[in-house]
Amino acid sequence: MTNPTGDVAERAAEGFTSQYGGDAAGRWAAPGRVNLIGEHTDYNDGFVLPFALPLRTVVAADRQDGEQWTVWSELSGETITFGADDVAEPGRVTGWGAYVAGVVWALRDAGHPAPGARLAIASDVPLGAGLSSSAALESAVLAALLDLGGLDLPAERQPRLAQRAENVYVGAPTGIMDQSAAIRCRAGHALFLDCRDESVEQIPFDLDAAGLAVLVIDSRAPHRHADGEYAARRRSCEAAAKALGVPALRDVTVDQLDSALARLDDDETRRRVRHVVTEDQRVLDTVALLRAGRVQDIGPLLTASHVSMRDDFEITVPETDTAVEAALEAGALGARMTGGGFGGCVLALVGVDRADTVATAVKAAYAERAFTAPTTLTVLPSPGTTRLP
Ligand code: GLA
Repeated sequence: MTNPTGDVAERAAEGFTSQYGGDAAGRWAAPGRVNLIGEHTDYNDGFVLPFALPLRTVVAADRQDGEQWTVWSELSGETITFGADDVAEPGRVTGWGAYVAGVVWALRDAGHPAPGARLAIASDVPLGAGLSSSAALESAVLAALLDLGGLDLPAERQPRLAQRAENVYVGAPTGIMDQSAAIRCRAGHALFLDCRDESVEQIPFDLDAAGLAVLVIDSRAPHRHADGEYAARRRSCEAAAKALGVPALRDVTVDQLDSALARLDDDETRRRVRHVVTEDQRVLDTVALLRAGRVQDIGPLLTASHVSMRDDFEITVPETDTAVEAALEAGALGARMTGGGFGGCVLALVGVDRADTVATAVKAAYAERAFTAPTTLTVLPSPGTTRLP
């Protein structure tokens, strides 16, 4: 996970000053996320359990007159500008700027007068690693614009707005998990989110007290057709729900699974449904264990989730499978790919004293197969979107 060096909040503030002169009116930070469990369940109206990473995107910003937005990002080194015409309808700004313009568009579309602004963006969330760098960017920009414009939008309504930026303006058919995690997560907790009504419960996830750590392994696998495959999975789930006569696959319980599968006529669809239905149950089971203070017992559920993604949902790749197998062999309590799939990151639940051994074992397994060396990081559940002092 290579990033520019130095503190991300300072980089944003310094970027602001060097681009625009003077100090920013404020800085807003939003985190990347890992999903502890509950993959491809969000757009099936199901359950997810993400937590926020200590890796953040920071936006330093102030207002500018008129309907004009100027945005500098340290990642591209570019400055882009856009105006009212560019946010009158989706798609006019492209590239990384679309995530910013999309938030302005979504605010205006929801009837909020988005203030003109100058923004400088710095980020520690690696791009393309499945840690939701796009949701972090959208959420930080949204927080900045809400504050700068004195707009009142309760936190529970912000994820939908940021998601519309991504779904409609950028055009990626993702669910509600990533923006919810960026905005609503709390330090020391995982966010149990019901993606149907967006109700949340903050579930204590005290790794330190249990002598455990979450090791995040960036598989470094090239994203192979990730966008098309994601959309295909979503279509297949929606078609299956329709065939079963339910609003969404969330409405099929594990008890009803066998009879539901018997009513579907192709094997691939049956496997997709089995993943989603069993994954929802694994989230509920994980939450029950965490509520009972049994964090050390969730490992088998994490590993079962990986097996289901590998065999039934078919979204893992050799690199992520290798990382999971090597982590388990080296003593991880459980391991799974996290995020949309086709690359991205693996998380492993490990005893604190085994984190290094597990990381070394994964690197060795990669070297044996001549995969690009993975990067690893141990993480603690961190705060959601905040305004920095
Ligand atoms: C991506 C999407 C999320 C979710 C996950 C899979 O991260 O942005 O909405 O669907 O994949 O769980």
